[in-house]
Amino acid sequence: RFFCAPLRARSTFLNAQRAHAHRVVDFRRTTPPPWTNFCPQRTKIEVAAPPLGIFSLPLQQRTEVALRPHVLNEQYHLQHNLTGMRIDIISVVPEMLDGFLNTSILARAQKKGLVEIHVHNLRDYTTDKHRRVDDYPYGGFAGMVMQCQPIDACIAALKAERDYDEVIFTSPDGEKFDQPMANSLSMKGNLIILCGHYKGIDYRIREHLITKEVSIGDFVLTGGELAAACMTDAIVRIIPGAIGDEQSALSDSFQDHLLAAPVYTRPADYKGWKVPDVLLSGHDAKIHEWEMAQSLERTKRLRPDLLEK
Ligand code: ADE
Repeated sequence: RFFCAPLRARSTFLNAQRAHAHRVVDFRRTTPPPWTNFCPQRTKIEVAAPPLGIFSLPLQQRTEVALRPHVLNEQYHLQHNLTGMRIDIISVVPEMLDGFLNTSILARAQKKGLVEIHVHNLRDYTTDKHRRVDDYPYGGFAGMVMQCQPIDACIAALKAERDYDEVIFTSPDGEKFDQPMANSLSMKGNLIILCGHYKGIDYRIREHLITKEVSIGDFVLTGGELAAACMTDAIVRIIPGAIGDEQSALSDSFQDHLLAAPVYTRPADYKGWKVPDVLLSGHDAKIHEWEMAQSLERTKRLRPDLLEK
């Protein structure tokens, strides 16, 4: 049902309409289109470079050119007042998210004050004395549907405190999440992510309150919590300062529509499994050349569709 073409076309159309009808204007910032008047020479190269033309450039320049200039660029974030992001996640099983959000890079980013992540239990917003948040669907369909009231109350309570750039709903029929979407969401100030559950949510919420519907892939999860976790991780790790080695994120798979080259660590020979000689050579230019060739070869072999992007 989720992949029925007419429904998809209709939902894309509705998404576009909704995006306009419910756009939240953030008056704290006047964010220009990401690469207008910042570092013009980089922007120029970026526009001029055909996707594979970047292979003629040294690695350092290749990553700078291929990336959007704002990604992991602290100066850009400061200049455009993009510091201090906030993500509010609404869920019926908040405990699913606790461990994930409080470990590793996400925990560090929160400690460093780069992002605030708050998880809200939808049941705290219901007027039902049994704390129910779902009910039977009209029309006699199978499954349960999340009701309007608690979702509306929770979103209203959050919006009363601050403006939001996007109110995202995780759903298998949403727009496919990918690195460019993560890059663009990492530039936002405040985001709400509503995790779907049961058979779905009352469609009126999607029509009136949601500004963006996002899927993490063509499969159906029991709930949107895993999708919210994936998205939050991908968004937060590219906020400048979130990870220790920023160069490492710059060369991530997908950042320049290419898969990353293989990586190795000590020992150079493990049970006769050898690290490629070139990596032990200390010859920077040759190493970069090898990395580019590997990156291109793996993309051609494993994800040729990326080369068409
Ligand atoms: N909820 C259930 N399945 C999902 C998916 N694939 N992406 C996002 N949210 C979901």
